[in-house]
Amino acid sequence: MKILIFGAPGVGKGTQAKILSKKLHIPHISTGDILRAAANSKTELGLKAKAIMDAGELVPDDVMGGIIKETLNDEKTRSGFILDGFPRTIEQAEILNKVLNELGENHLILISIAADDELIINRLSERRECTVCHTIVNLIFLNDENVCPNCGSKDTFIKRKDDDADVIKNRLKVFHRNTAPVLSFYEDKAKLINVDGTKPVEQVTDDILNQLNLN
Ligand code: AP5
Repeated sequence: MKILIFGAPGVGKGTQAKILSKKLHIPHISTGDILRAAANSKTELGLKAKAIMDAGELVPDDVMGGIIKETLNDEKTRSGFILDGFPRTIEQAEILNKVLNELGENHLILISIAADDELIINRLSERRECTVCHTIVNLIFLNDENVCPNCGSKDTFIKRKDDDADVIKNRLKVFHRNTAPVLSFYEDKAKLINVDGTKPVEQVTDDILNQLNLN
């Protein structure tokens, strides 16, 4: 199964992609995670990308296209993948189309998750990541002890730099301007699944699995 997870920053793409990856036994490829790993390793790409990501702008299409071509040519993605965060522009969608055509793969499923900007701003302002096991949590669900619900570490939560209020607003602006138009590109090129991202996590997953006829 070849799945694209589509939606605004903070709508829950990563949350659902991780769950689906486990359930469907296919790799979760997050372009944001790839760029953050490059930034942490201080590679040339990572250092350039970090400044762009911290400002909430988009890394250039040719750079992202190179990353995606390399990733999808890897044997590990041959039996399927969940692509989270790509494509984010029409040009990226065209690059992906070309790469998949070259690989002889053209059955795509696009899962579009929707929520309004106000809810997204609240979610991202409250998002924290455990630095030990990388579990993503919402601040309001953390207990008083500040203990990670997954690995039990204490006081290990950080806020992503691009989750600052002004940067969130810019990421949403960039989404509406550059990324939202990508949805119409796929109208006749993928099976489209629309889900309401304002529901609780488990309900969103159920909705996706129902529409995939997997429940
Ligand atoms: P990326 O890491 O892809 O960030 P994003 O798209 O902005 O998405 P997020 O990771 O912020 O949110 P999400 O939708 O995954 O939500 P999550 O599940 O965490 O990209 C970062 C940057 O990298 C970009 O800004 C850009 O600079 C660069 N980049 C990446 N790809 C690129 C590309 N292709 N081209 C150019 N540049 C690129 O959930 C958010 C919060 O909500 C969490 O706290 C979670 O616990 C909570 N939550 C999730 N679902 C629910 C729910 N149903 N109910 C209640 N809470 C929920």
